[in-house]
Amino acid sequence: MPDIRILDKTATLAALRDLSDLFSETVRGGASMGYMLPFPPEDAEIYWCGVAEAVGRGDIVLLALEEAGHVVGSVQIGVAMPPNQPHRADIKKLMVHPHQRGRGLSRHLMDAAEREAAARGRSLLVLDTATGEPAEQIYEHLGWSRAGVIPGYALFPDGRPCDTTFYHKTLTL
Ligand SMILES: CC(C)(COP(=O)(O)OP(=O)(O)OC[C@H]1O[C@@H](n2cnc3c(N)ncnc32)[C@H](O)[C@@H]1OP(=O)(O)O)[C@@H](O)C(=O)NCCC(=O)NCCS
Repeated sequence: MPDIRILDKTATLAALRDLSDLFSETVRGGASMGYMLPFPPEDAEIYWCGVAEAVGRGDIVLLALEEAGHVVGSVQIGVAMPPNQPHRADIKKLMVHPHQRGRGLSRHLMDAAEREAAARGRSLLVLDTATGEPAEQIYEHLGWSRAGVIPGYALFPDGRPCDTTFYHKTLTL
């Protein structure tokens, strides 16, 4: 299995090219990740520069899956919570490069994200994902509970409406 590394701000900026390729290929592949087509690599770089800033502030923990010196997958833990939710974190933007899918890497990333969240004292994790997409099954197999679906919550990159399913998972600390 490839290594998973937590990237600080400097390491995030150093991996900008790989991260941007990962993200733009993922959006171009049709995943609902907050962005619309066309999604040029420059826009992906702007996105990751924002993530690097958030990592630097301590608002996001960025986990990167590395193979042969390149980042081929990532997931983020949003840990900036209001004072009344110190036990919670958001799992965001799980992605594996299209060339690396089907090898169990998403599970590897999610397991690492859960371990990291627990190590930071977060016992309740929340995420959302496009309804009817493969990721739903992944989360259900990993023990996440389905809270419900919001119809038409977002858009797919091509503009079609995208229902969104919300999940939660309680970790034993
Ligand atoms: C969702 C995603 C992260 C899965 O990554 P992956 O590394 O290919 O997934 P894995 O190899 O770990 O597969 C995990 C399980 O999902 C299944 N699976 C993966 N892709 C699938 C697909 N396209 N269709 C059906 N099942 C699929 C696998 O068979 C496996 O099931 P199993 O453990 O019961 O055998 C990847 O497809 C991706 O980056 N998609 C675009 C972004 C996205 O949708 N992110 C999630 C929402 S934010």
